[in-house]
Amino acid sequence: MPWRPMTAQDLAQVQILADTIHLDHPEDARVFEERQRLYPQGCLVLEEGGRIVGYALTHPWHFGSPPALNSLLGEIPSKATTYYVHDVALLPETRGKGYAVQAGERLARHAHDAGFGNMSLVAVNNSQAFWERLDFRAADVPGLEAKLLTYGPDAVLMMRNLAQAYS
Ligand SMILES: CC(C)(COP(=O)(O)OP(=O)(O)OC[C@H]1O[C@@H](n2cnc3c(N)ncnc32)[C@H](O)[C@@H]1OP(=O)(O)O)[C@@H](O)C(=O)NCCC(=O)NCCS
Repeated sequence: MPWRPMTAQDLAQVQILADTIHLDHPEDARVFEERQRLYPQGCLVLEEGGRIVGYALTHPWHFGSPPALNSLLGEIPSKATTYYVHDVALLPETRGKGYAVQAGERLARHAHDAGFGNMSLVAVNNSQAFWERLDFRAADVPGLEAKLLTYGPDAVLMMRNLAQAYS
């Protein structure tokens, strides 16, 4: 069951998945549509028998300044300082089989090859330990506490150094 690039035709199914998985972090269709349109090379789906069972949304961004949830990016910054993971999500029955790690490694390779020295994300839903498995570590950015709380009480900014990973 390989990951493949997300297309515009996948967006309706991706939205259903997101609404099912992220009950506490709802996002509008325009958010998914914009990310897929602005940075298709960072958007993946996991498909099983014609049904999408997982997705990943990622894009270049500014380190230490995660986009607010349910907000549009406007454009991909020309001077991006991080490769940002907006979301990786799988249906519950698809978890625990290594697919999310596969997506993470594929995206890390892409980010490295695109010239990024780091990846970052905001871990939610108690996913911090999962991201640590992918070599992300909690990162302290002073002044970010209030913004992180808008993601939820357990939100943690995390960063992975890519230079170390592929040197
Ligand atoms: C986070 C998520 C994508 C992980 O998916 P998954 O299918 O469990 O991940 P994998 O099977 O690829 O996990 C691989 C490894 O991570 C570990 N792992 C996964 N979730 C973990 C957790 N919450 N705590 C600790 N370890 C975890 C597994 O034990 C496994 O380790 P191993 O290879 O050494 O045995 C999935 O739980 C999910 O979709 N959650 C809901 C959406 C979400 O919150 N996404 C994160 C947003 S920041």
